[in-house]
Amino acid sequence: MSPTSRLSLLALCATAALAQTPIAPVDKWSASGMEHFITRPELIAPRYKVNKIHPEAIAPGYWFVTPYYVTAQEQRKETLEYIPCQTGAHIFDGDGHLVWSGACQYENRNIFGFRPVEINGTQHLSMWLSRQFVGMPKERIPVKDQSESGVILNNQYEEIHRLILPHALDCHEFRPQPDGKTILHTWHERIDVDTTGSNLPHVVDGEKRKVLNGGFWETDLTTHEPVFAWSPLEHGLHLNESYDTTGSGWVGTDDHSDAWDYIHMNAVDKTTDGDYICSGRHTSAVYKVSKDDGHIIWRLGGKRSDFVMDADVPFFWQHHVAFLFDNATHTIISVFDNAGEDKGRNTSIPQMVSKAKLIVLDTAARPMTAKILRNFERPDGDRTPMGGSVYPLGDDPATANIFVNWVLPGYVSEYDSNDRLILEARFETDAVKGYRAFKSDFVGRPTEPPAFKVLPVGYGKDEAASAFYVSWNGATEVVDWTFYGADSASGPFYKLETVKKRGFETSWVMPGVVQYAYAEGVDKNGISLGRSAVESLVYHGAGGYKIAAPALEGIKQMASPVSGRPVSSERLTTITAQQVADSDSSVLPATDGLLNQQLYGFFIYCLALFGLICGARKIYTTMVWRKKGYSALPAFRVDDK
Ligand SMILES: *[C@@H]1O[C@H](CO)[C@@H](O)[C@H](O)[C@H]1NC(C)=O
Ligand SMILES: *[C@@H]1O[C@H](CO)[C@@H](O)[C@H](O)[C@H]1NC(C)=O
Ligand SMILES: *[C@@H]1O[C@H](CO)[C@@H](O)[C@H](O)[C@H]1NC(C)=O
Ligand SMILES: *[C@@H]1O[C@H](CO)[C@@H](O)[C@H](O)[C@H]1NC(C)=O
Repeated sequence: MSPTSRLSLLALCATAALAQTPIAPVDKWSASGMEHFITRPELIAPRYKVNKIHPEAIAPGYWFVTPYYVTAQEQRKETLEYIPCQTGAHIFDGDGHLVWSGACQYENRNIFGFRPVEINGTQHLSMWLSRQFVGMPKERIPVKDQSESGVILNNQYEEIHRLILPHALDCHEFRPQPDGKTILHTWHERIDVDTTGSNLPHVVDGEKRKVLNGGFWETDLTTHEPVFAWSPLEHGLHLNESYDTTGSGWVGTDDHSDAWDYIHMNAVDKTTDGDYICSGRHTSAVYKVSKDDGHIIWRLGGKRSDFVMDADVPFFWQHHVAFLFDNATHTIISVFDNAGEDKGRNTSIPQMVSKAKLIVLDTAARPMTAKILRNFERPDGDRTPMGGSVYPLGDDPATANIFVNWVLPGYVSEYDSNDRLILEARFETDAVKGYRAFKSDFVGRPTEPPAFKVLPVGYGKDEAASAFYVSWNGATEVVDWTFYGADSASGPFYKLETVKKRGFETSWVMPGVVQYAYAEGVDKNGISLGRSAVESLVYHGAGGYKIAAPALEGIKQMASPVSGRPVSSERLTTITAQQVADSDSSVLPATDGLLNQQLYGFFIYCLALFGLICGARKIYTTMVWRKKGYSALPAFRVDDK
């Protein structure tokens, strides 16, 4: 390191120590807790804190989550501040690293129910897409996007189907069926209802009342016509089965505030023989509906339950009910029991710890019975007032690992077959939540090439280095990244180094200035999956050749020893394009040692200096305060003005 750079580093350390400013108050709308990427500056993603309690028991698979309502987006609309893509469909790996962000692909819109689905035997992704655009004037929104829609993507993240049903597609459920012919989705309509005889606390008997009649449809994917449409009011699900005492509406993406949201249908699924299972949050009940005539076969929970329920079975304000198994006598379902609610809809119902439940129904017994198969309390003892999901990671509900989404703050947990808590993860920021979360194997093969950037980095006047950054949004099979460099755009390209993929974005530093470079993603068998465009540190715009960073003389000099192992320049000059492909990475000195040696001494230096200055400041401040008559220093305040 040159004397100048030593001095500037010292100056930096001194400034840091002197400034000693309290850290600015954490602005939860700002990027705190969010991860940024050099290769993808247009997106940010929430960072997870992951706690693996029994790593050996954790099922393999990716997490499918939908960070949403980052309120900052609304605030920033006013200031015209740039809003990176951060809301929408995301895939994370089991270590909490981003794998795919679909936030830009769908304009930062809210997404619900993002999950892998098997259609015609191949993996697809499905999701419900809000029409809400953040920070975009309404006039600029394409007409096809002005209403809620459901989309299906293939595993290359290409949209292969879009279902648009103005006013009929509601956000809670959107599930393509395995034959790829129909989609099961929740639905609602506003209608006037005669309330005679209903005995509702918020309605004068006999008054007409605007009601949100929430049911579900099974819709043909080709014709977009319902093949089965079910409405609760038509099938004898009375207004007074609701637990809601307020008669208030639903302020969601549509303004339904004037229509009483009496049932709030939030999940629908199909049994083996084609009947339906659906869930009413405001009636706190699950219904089995006949595929033949839509009559209610049974009610579980709520005011008119058909089952004798064990003590742990009753649930309130539940989300995400799913069908798991049935035979002639038994049915197993999962219920996310919120056991609480956030709108004060019925204050006589105690608010409790939220739970994920697997419930066995014996429908042959008389009376029918409901028993708990497995029951998981929210591990931090908290309540999830809205949203949530339960997802078995195997075919046998009795023994499968269970993946649960507790919503805030992106809190998920996994349990093994012995019901042990084996994993917990949550977002670092509490500004982000997600409605449901799923876990599954997935193979993603994006059509876009890897994103690659080279930045000049310097450690002083004569020591320039090139920092390589590479990422590939959605590529699940990359194990290693190989970097290639050349003196001219047309090559020959030399293999510089192969490094393990680390998280969403992988970086590597080499001494010297690279003229031209690209990155190649390699799978576990060493097979190339795709390569990035060629990037250069040298600017080649109008007016000719401008050097954008301290220039060494191209790739051969870059490889000459700055420190570390000497490299024979002969060896490099004789390398041919053919040899490059199978050359080993020892052509260049490893940079790790190089950087460490130089920085280590200075780190110690800085630490000592920092300590000295801090100490002096402390003594000085204490003296000043003593003079003013205080015996101790004032408490540290982050919001010091
Ligand atoms: C699945 O197969 C059906 C019947 O062959 C076909 O109509 C449908 O388009 C396929 N769906 C997808 C998503 O491939
Ligand atoms: C609920 O409403 C129905 C239909 O209006 C009525 O027949 C029934 O008696 C009501 N039940 C109660 C408990 O008020
Ligand atoms: C509110 O909840 C209590 C306790 O479960 C219930 O008895 C009551 O009927 C509910 N109120 C209404 C209007 O449904
Ligand atoms: C149906 O499933 C239940 C619950 O798994 C099981 O106890 C019962 O033996 C099964 N019955 C038949 C006829 O397979």
